[in-house]
Amino acid sequence: MATKNAVLITGASGWLASRVADSLLKDPSTPDAHLILTDLVQPRYDSSRVTVIQADLTDVNQIDALFATAHGVPDTVYCMHGIMSRQAEDNFDLGMKVNIDAVRNLLEAARRHGQLAGKTVKFIFTSGLAVYGGPLPPVVQPTTIPTPQSAYGTSKLISELLINEYTRRGFIDGRILRLPTVIVRPGSPAAATSAFLSAIIREPLKGEIAHCPIGNSLDSPETELRTWVASSKTIIQNLIIARHIPASKFVAHTRVVCLPGFTTTIREMLEALRDVGGPEALHRVVFKDDETDRRIVSSWPEKADNSYALELGFQQDEGGMVPVVQRFKDDVEAGLA
Ligand SMILES: NC(=O)c1ccc[n+]([C@@H]2O[C@H](COP(=O)([O-])OP(=O)(O)OC[C@H]3O[C@@H](n4cnc5c(N)ncnc54)[C@H](O)[C@@H]3O)[C@@H](O)[C@H]2O)c1
Repeated sequence: MATKNAVLITGASGWLASRVADSLLKDPSTPDAHLILTDLVQPRYDSSRVTVIQADLTDVNQIDALFATAHGVPDTVYCMHGIMSRQAEDNFDLGMKVNIDAVRNLLEAARRHGQLAGKTVKFIFTSGLAVYGGPLPPVVQPTTIPTPQSAYGTSKLISELLINEYTRRGFIDGRILRLPTVIVRPGSPAAATSAFLSAIIREPLKGEIAHCPIGNSLDSPETELRTWVASSKTIIQNLIIARHIPASKFVAHTRVVCLPGFTTTIREMLEALRDVGGPEALHRVVFKDDETDRRIVSSWPEKADNSYALELGFQQDEGGMVPVVQRFKDDVEAGLA
């Protein structure tokens, strides 16, 4: 018999998806949730409430198998696997296969298996700022037309359109979340241009050198560059909230939501590093201005309008960069990062 509240998470060995899994297991509103975690890299989890399946989602048969476990058709799919921005740019064909074809095949599986089981599967998708590019208004609005300038952003936008169309037809119940840049990412740097935004906090707090590609010193004018970010804590909370929002609350014509973020500058980030980690932490940041990185970061939105997301019940960070850096320092000291 199918399990009530089964949740499938793809990309489950990744940074955000593994934390979504942790949070879902603690979500008091669904104490009976059973997780099916899948990734190209075998997910590590030891719990009777978790089934792990190593799978390559570029293979349709391996996708199908995820809907045919003893737990039946999942009620919710978190579609979080992907090839990140730099790698998708360098390996166009792999990016298209994983970021578009595998998403489409996952949607088809959710549609087909859902119909057979008599349910409409909730399909939660992690999109991002990369759907935007080219000239942008000072504040990105829900009406701002996305014109991506990268293979990664293009693949996210194509997947968004498919999810909206599958939702319009009643095949699935889509929830498309455009994430700000999420900080502070633990572990080794990601294959993303935005990776330095975490590295300039993470490495110095761990006693290591970090390279900042924006400006040649803290006070150089380039460090006034503004960027749109959110803390990983708030993003994980919002990914859980996304599952509980009634379908009727979304506007009728799209399931896209820009998750709440806040504007910071590279200088504010480094000042927060100094405030939390002391001047010695800031001394571990080595500046080497890189025009290409600066151009790419400058092409991203500096600010988006949070009001629709807040109306839907999503949360926002309070207090700017210092609490974000402090939380990461606490994690480092507790051996969690
Ligand atoms: N981190 C951010 O700032 C950010 C911002 C916007 C959107 N997102 C999106 O959020 C999601 C999670 O991001 P993350 O930073 O945790 O990424 P991550 O790189 O840590 O995780 C991605 C996972 O996808 C898996 N994967 C890749 N190819 C696969 C395949 N063929 N089959 C199965 N699994 C495969 C990888 O093994 C990896 O574990 C992604 O969809 C990403 O695009 C992240």
